[in-house]
Amino acid sequence: MKLMFRPLFFLSLLFCATQTFGVRIQSIPEVNSDGVIQTELQKTVSLVCQSKGGIETQDDEELVWLRNDAVVILTEGNKKGNSSVCVSPVIHEDNGATFTCRLSKNATVMASVTLNVTYHPELSGSEEVVVEEEAELILRCNIWANPPVSSVSWTLNGSVVDLFTDGFLLTNDGFTSQLTAHRVERSLHEGTYQCIAKSPIFGYGETTKQFSVTVKDMTMKVPLWPIIAGIVVVCLTALLAVISRWHKIRKCCK
Ligand SMILES: *[C@@H]1O[C@H](CO)[C@@H](O)[C@H](O)[C@H]1NC(C)=O
Ligand SMILES: *[C@@H]1O[C@H](CO)[C@@H](O)[C@H](O)[C@H]1NC(C)=O
Ligand SMILES: *[C@@H]1O[C@H](CO)[C@@H](O)[C@H](O)[C@H]1NC(C)=O
Repeated sequence: MKLMFRPLFFLSLLFCATQTFGVRIQSIPEVNSDGVIQTELQKTVSLVCQSKGGIETQDDEELVWLRNDAVVILTEGNKKGNSSVCVSPVIHEDNGATFTCRLSKNATVMASVTLNVTYHPELSGSEEVVVEEEAELILRCNIWANPPVSSVSWTLNGSVVDLFTDGFLLTNDGFTSQLTAHRVERSLHEGTYQCIAKSPIFGYGETTKQFSVTVKDMTMKVPLWPIIAGIVVVCLTALLAVISRWHKIRKCCK
């Protein structure tokens, strides 16, 4: 009996000790054992900080909140004893943000939590692309996600793009997956493309974007500047004609 009593006694001592000093953060959704709160874009995270002092003495300890290193502005009634902040809606920039609560008069008494915002790549819809024969075709897909996508694939008319025989180049910098054809040929490159990004999170599944690529005949390249200069001269002449005419009209009226 005695043996069982001991650990309990120590536990309650420990409990008392952590209760006497410090601050504690409670949140919805809950903080995991690594001090991380799992959330998603557009969701709401609410955090409550309590000074863990004895009820009589430290109940009115003033609290300070920091988001990363910036002080969060709190209203007067939201500082003493306990203080709440709300992140709503959660945005991309909140991913990895650390919220710290500390005593105003003793910065070493603090607690903090970090947000882990998961999101899938913003891929959707369909884009019409017209490209000239022998020009360069570039298709880009945003694959920025947390956690990173597990795979990105490209299809043309429903079958996986053949990088080796069809003159494609595929690059991926972690933010964008880019499919390039340096010298477009209608027979090889016209059709419906899709980029498909897979998330390792089960519920997120696949996101896709479609491109309808039309290859048109090569047009003769005409130098542009002489044309623009010509248009400007014509416009100016017309304007001058109108102005001189305007003078005549005004003279008539007088
Ligand atoms: C701040 O709190 C720590 C931990 O409770 C304590 O050791 C330290 O003496 C305090 N400092 C001041 C200035 O009160
Ligand atoms: C964030 O959440 C994702 C998905 O659950 C997980 O794979 C990743 O390890 C988490 N990152 C951190 C820093 O906790
Ligand atoms: C893809 O399909 C379209 C429409 O059926 C066709 O015109 C085009 O030639 C096809 N592209 C390739 C590369 O087979």
